[in-house]
Amino acid sequence: MTEQNENPYLKQLKESILFLTNQLSEIPRVGIIQGTGLGKIVDEMTVHKEISYRDIPHFPESTVESHAGKLVFGVLEGKQVVVMKGRYHYYEGYDMKTVTFPVRVMKGLGIEHLFISNAAGGLNPAYAIGDCMVIEDHIDLFPENPLRGRNLDNLGVRFPDMSEPYSLKLINQAKKISSAHHLPLQYGVYVGLQGPNLETRAEYRYLRTIGADAVGMSTVPEVIVARHMDIPVFAISAITDLCSPHMVKKISIAEVIEAAAMAEPTMTTLIRLIIQQLP
Ligand code: HPA
Repeated sequence: MTEQNENPYLKQLKESILFLTNQLSEIPRVGIIQGTGLGKIVDEMTVHKEISYRDIPHFPESTVESHAGKLVFGVLEGKQVVVMKGRYHYYEGYDMKTVTFPVRVMKGLGIEHLFISNAAGGLNPAYAIGDCMVIEDHIDLFPENPLRGRNLDNLGVRFPDMSEPYSLKLINQAKKISSAHHLPLQYGVYVGLQGPNLETRAEYRYLRTIGADAVGMSTVPEVIVARHMDIPVFAISAITDLCSPHMVKKISIAEVIEAAAMAEPTMTTLIRLIIQQLP
């Protein structure tokens, strides 16, 4: 055993992966983090197995939000997939190693592609509530980085490249599917902040000025960890509220959920069709 294998994080990872692998007859090739806007993707799958986060060794204790969290294994468009129903957010109090632990586990299970959805505020004045924005790039404004600390050399390099955080191949596929199937899509830059409060008008103005089209509280840490392990990523935001400084108004969580539901059919169809075309 090398010294690295004694790293407690690696040991926990191995135990989680082994626990899950022992219950699976097929290796998942596609991972999906089902955030807001992609709740129905599981309805389109042939589900083989569901495992609650609370039953998986080393998966973090659930807070209210991730209480119903589970991994769903099955087949979607002929591909073996694992869906994370519910994710861990930094604002819930988890550190970044914990937030991204399930991404490491999915890689250990065998995923070769990762799909992510989220809800986000629209900073680009051309956006409307219910739009779907394909994430082409991101800006990381989280106060902590999941790769901070000793590098896990057998998982990835110390200084991972970020020239293509979101797979150009998958983005181009989305563009083709969008025109062939008349699925309207926006394309833009996502900025990730810790939350949980929404932003002030001045902050929205600032985020727009630095080049962001949408703002949210997730995704960036998971993408960093996926890219550290060289997994191609496709991510999409449901635009749930408008954040141009003159349009900002009070929003409720109910409005966010309603807006995400508007984006849901497009998001679900798009992800399904991209997965169908995977090798
Ligand atoms: N800001 C941050 N996160 C969000 C927003 C927002 O306006 N809307 C949905 N998630």
